[in-house]
This record gives sequence, C-alpha cells and structure tokens, in this order.
Amino acid sequence: EAPQYENILVSRPDPSVVLVQLNRPKALNALSSGLFKELNEALKIADEDGSVGAIVLTGSEKAFAAGADIKEMKDKTFSDAYKNNFLESWGEIGRLRKPVIAAVSGYALGGGCELALMCDIILASPTAKFGQPEINLGVIPGGGGSQRLAKVIGKSRTMELVLTGRNISAKEAENWGIVSRVVGEGEGEVVKEALTTAKLIAGKSQIAVQAGKEVVNAAYDLNLAEGLRFERRIFHGLFATNDQKEGMAAFAEKRKAQFTHS
Ligand code: HXC
Repeated sequence: EAPQYENILVSRPDPSVVLVQLNRPKALNALSSGLFKELNEALKIADEDGSVGAIVLTGSEKAFAAGADIKEMKDKTFSDAYKNNFLESWGEIGRLRKPVIAAVSGYALGGGCELALMCDIILASPTAKFGQPEINLGVIPGGGGSQRLAKVIGKSRTMELVLTGRNISAKEAENWGIVSRVVGEGEGEVVKEALTTAKLIAGKSQIAVQAGKEVVNAAYDLNLAEGLRFERRIFHGLFATNDQKEGMAAFAEKRKAQFTHS
C-alpha cells in the first residue's frame, strides 16, 4: 500500500524509475519540515525497492524549491535549532545508494539549491535560477551549500554567491559546473531528459551503478591517494559479481547484456 503524501507526488513513469515531484505550489515548494519528512520517506522506499534503478527529483516549472520554509523558521530560537538538530534529517539524502537526478526548472534558491546539490546529477531547464540568498535573511546556508559549492565551483564564486545572495542563470550554472547540462526550452523538457537519463542508468547493473556512485562520492571525502586506492579495491570487488561476468561475456558474444543485479 503506497503512502499518501501532502507535499509531494510520487509516480512510476517507467517500471525501473521513480519520479518524486515537490508539490507545494502556493509556497514555491518551500521545504517545510513536513515536506522534507515525506521526501525522505519516499526516497528511502524507492532506494530499497529492488526493481528501481534510478530516481528523478523535480519541482514545478516556476520553482524547483525556493528554499527552506522561512515562515516556519522565523521564530525558531538557537535552543530549538541546536537541541533538535535542525536540518539534520536533510543528510538522509546523502545516504541513498541509488542515483538521484535533479530536474531543475525555475527557482532553486537557498535550501532548494542545496537540495539540488545533494543529488548525483543536476539537469537544468533554461529557466533555472540558482542562488544562496540566506545572507538577505541574516543567516547563511545551513544545508551544505557553502561546502558543496566550494568543492564544485571554488572559493571566489562560492563567496560571491554566499555573501551577495545574487542568483545565477542556468547558463552560468552550466559554465561553472554546477549542472551537467542545460536542456532545450519547452515545458516538461527537463523532466523528460532526466527520465531518459534515469532509464539509461536503470538499464545497467545496479551493483556497478551503486559502486560508481560510491567511488565518485569518495572523491569529495578522500585525498587522491586514498581515493585511487578505494576506487581500485571496489573495481576489484566487482569481479565477484554475476553482472561483471555477464557484461563482459555479452560484449565478447556481440549481444546485449542481461544484468541480474547480482
Ligand atoms: C516560505 C515562501 C518561500 C520560502 C516563497 N514563498 N519562498 N514561503 N519560505 N522560502 C511563498 C511566498 O511567501 C508567497 O506566499 C508564495 O511563496 C509565492 O512567492 P512570491 O514571493 O509571491 O513569488 P515571486 O514574487 O514570484 O518571487 C519568487 C522568489 C521569492 C524570488 C523566489 O518568493 C523569494 O525570494 N523567496 C525566498 C527565497 C529565499 O530567500 N530562499 C532562501 C530561504 S532560507 P504568499 O502566501 O505570500 O502567497 C534557506 C535556508 C537554508 O533556504 C538553510 C538551511 C537549508
């Protein structure tokens, strides 16, 4: 029995792909605690479903997400925030093993930008706008934006975004390497592209995909020597899988591989 959600829509556009759409249109998908709880739950269910190979996360045409919910946050005290470890649950996305593709149209600001940065691949519509406007609210990013942006776009650009709060266009985000590519114009185009990419990934060995995600993410945590060693060890380990045997046999026999995810 699928859970009922108030703030998100979950669908299965392909048997191997789950699409999660943020759905608080009146608040431009502001990330309330209720929304985040539902998002984490839906992503966890998809991650644990053996028939799912990849997940797409999107918002609306106008907004991927306009940030954490300012109205919910505004009366918070330091004691509340610290004692209840405010935003701690945002880290759950980083523990998913299946790839998550963000399809971003419109505003991806503050926590919305940070949410996109937590995903594994970001595709953007030409209307996408990224920014960390927290400085205008008297605070700073709290969902990882300062750290993830610094790793992706470097110090000077991150400082400019975090200290001025200015938004950047999809084109700039692409030039800076925040998004993997900007898709064509047209309503729904970015979701369509993300679903195509998700389906492509879902056709591979799930074990190899999980390993690929794990080693690329290690590049953010480890130094080069440790990272190279980690990659090599995981690579060696894949020779224990049926999917490696099948993938290489299929190549040699000039046929399409039938992966069993084992
Ligand atoms: C709560 C929000 C919201 C938000 C928009 N809304 N963003 N509510 N939290 N982050 C609500 C508005 O109050 C309004 O509600 C409705 O959504 C439509 O928004 P408008 O402002 O009327 O739309 P528009 O004029 O088109 O402007 C779009 C916008 C603007 C430029 C994106 O909404 C905006 O600046 N939003 C805030 C962006 C921001 O500062 N984000 C960072 C949040 S802090 P009503 O009821 O009036 O119709 C953050 C902290 C992260 O994310 C740290 C930890 C994660």
